[in-house]
Amino acid sequence: MKIVTKITEVREEIKKWKKEGFSVGFVPTMGYLHEGHKSLMTAARANNDKVVVSIFVNPMQFGPTEDLANYPRDLERDSLLCEDAGVDMIFHPEAEEMYDIGFCSYVDMNGLTKELCGKSRPVHFRGVCTVVNKLFHIVQPDRAYFGEKDAQQLAVIKRMVLDLNMDLEIIGCPIVREADGLAKSSRNTYLTKEEREQAVILSKSVALAKELFTDGERKAAVIIEKMTQLIETMPLAKIDYIQVVDTRTIEPLDMIETEALVALAVQFGKARLIDNITLR
Ligand code: PAF
Repeated sequence: MKIVTKITEVREEIKKWKKEGFSVGFVPTMGYLHEGHKSLMTAARANNDKVVVSIFVNPMQFGPTEDLANYPRDLERDSLLCEDAGVDMIFHPEAEEMYDIGFCSYVDMNGLTKELCGKSRPVHFRGVCTVVNKLFHIVQPDRAYFGEKDAQQLAVIKRMVLDLNMDLEIIGCPIVREADGLAKSSRNTYLTKEEREQAVILSKSVALAKELFTDGERKAAVIIEKMTQLIETMPLAKIDYIQVVDTRTIEPLDMIETEALVALAVQFGKARLIDNITLR
């Protein structure tokens, strides 16, 4: 497995692979990898000749008061996980490599980013779309893999690929959870022991939404209210949002007709955790 830091090196390698007729699967990440990322790599490994993982903590997608400086990093550990997953190349650029002096071109979106995480993180999706676009241009993958835990991000990227006629397939992979149900996340590492114990309430509230829906509840307000009540039983939880939205447009729904995305973000100390479920 190669670890490269320069865009030109990635391009050279990809060119060689494409000449040989190899397909390329791509997993963009910000590192501090866990089983969730590994499941994306495994999916990429199964369906492509070559697998590339990018590890880049993208400054553009962090707001001024967010955790850019403290975002966990461990390239050595990440490399072992990638090696184990059969990855062919890690692209690990410095910020200067990705954003040259005078950088001023962005990919922005008018829809899909106003609700959920976009509401409390106003610059986030512009940063995500811009960097993912750049990474797609650099790696030129046939398929790219994203976790369903970041459901809004997945919807945004799918839309961007459609709108900008990008020639690749976006594949969403299921949420990977800890034994007690907490969705795996690099940010779980911020949790104190007490916060970690209480954080299980996210997945419990998602399970409650499913139960209510299965029992015939279709009113978004009722589902949100019941989830709120459950989460508020945990004294360390501070709800950022709980919303029921259309799975493709990410517009809020009052009633669930056929399917809906129920998504939430909850702050536990320094960790802002997200989870979601699609009801259909
Ligand atoms: O999901 C992430 O880790 C990031 O948002 C991504 C897609 C790698 C872009 O920086």
